Amino acid sequence: MAVAADSIRDRQRIIWDQFAAGWKKWDAELLGWQRPFGDAVIKDARLRPDSIVLDVASGTGEPGLTAAALVPDGEVVLTDISAGMLHVAEEKASAQGLANVSFNVCDAAELPFEDATFDAVLCRFGFNYFPDMRGAVREMVRAAKPGARISAAVWGRTAENPWAALVLGSLAQHAELPRRPDVMPGLFRCSAPGFMTRLFRDAGLVDVAEHKVSTDLVHDSPDSYWEFITDIAATVATGLAKADKEARALIRSDVFQLLGRYEHQGALRLRSAATIVGGTKA
Ligand SMILES: C[S@@+](CC[C@H](N)C(=O)[O-])C[C@H]1O[C@@H](n2cnc3c(N)ncnc32)[C@H](O)[C@@H]1O
Repeated sequence: MAVAADSIRDRQRIIWDQFAAGWKKWDAELLGWQRPFGDAVIKDARLRPDSIVLDVASGTGEPGLTAAALVPDGEVVLTDISAGMLHVAEEKASAQGLANVSFNVCDAAELPFEDATFDAVLCRFGFNYFPDMRGAVREMVRAAKPGARISAAVWGRTAENPWAALVLGSLAQHAELPRRPDVMPGLFRCSAPGFMTRLFRDAGLVDVAEHKVSTDLVHDSPDSYWEFITDIAATVATGLAKADKEARALIRSDVFQLLGRYEHQGALRLRSAATIVGGTKA
């Protein structure tokens, strides 16, 4: 198990380093689309102006950078396994003139912080990729002060997320996908109702609650959607990379045809839904 977790983690690091350029390119679109999920995580965290906040798997900076503006007398530490993703976050922080942020490349299951350091821990769409989800939440709890809130977003069920399910469904028909989505990192591995609540309660958190947030991914055209999804969705793009040329062409034409269903008032509107879960360290 330890060896498998290590190799998944190393693979994640390589994959996300490769996707950093795509996330930088689409930063404005990602910020706009995923803001409701980040805002819900931040709301659950009950930040105060002087909170010391940890953002785990911050990627290119969210929700940590948004939180930094809300804690002018506090600070935010942004962490990620991928130095490439975190470097983009660092560039954004300096462009925004944020002085109360710092960055640390580390694994969620091995956080390099003292016990009881943080007033709040945030994590948006990180659990979907951690090989050791229990280890990650255990570390978050350890690094949190008593009374701190730990708040996360994970993707909801396949049917609620056509923005990704459209391509993943076509991929499953035409190419090979990981066979154990419950074990392998993936978009829908945390989506069963109550899954995150159990994970948080098992880690000793109290006052645990989860709720759903949804919003649309909006694109002007199928070409724009396809470029976006293949630039930023690691699960989709790594699946496509395994397909041969013929299968890739089939998948693309399948998806373009299916996109017709999501046209509304001159734009493509694809639903996306996440579970927001929070718990308090006793
Ligand atoms: C979908 S991105 C989310 C980034 C950001 N939180 C956001 O919502 O925009 C997932 C991030 O998880 C990071 N990640 C994957 N496995 C990790 C691990 N074991 N420890 C820390 N970060 C990890 C990836 O490098 C990537 O930046």
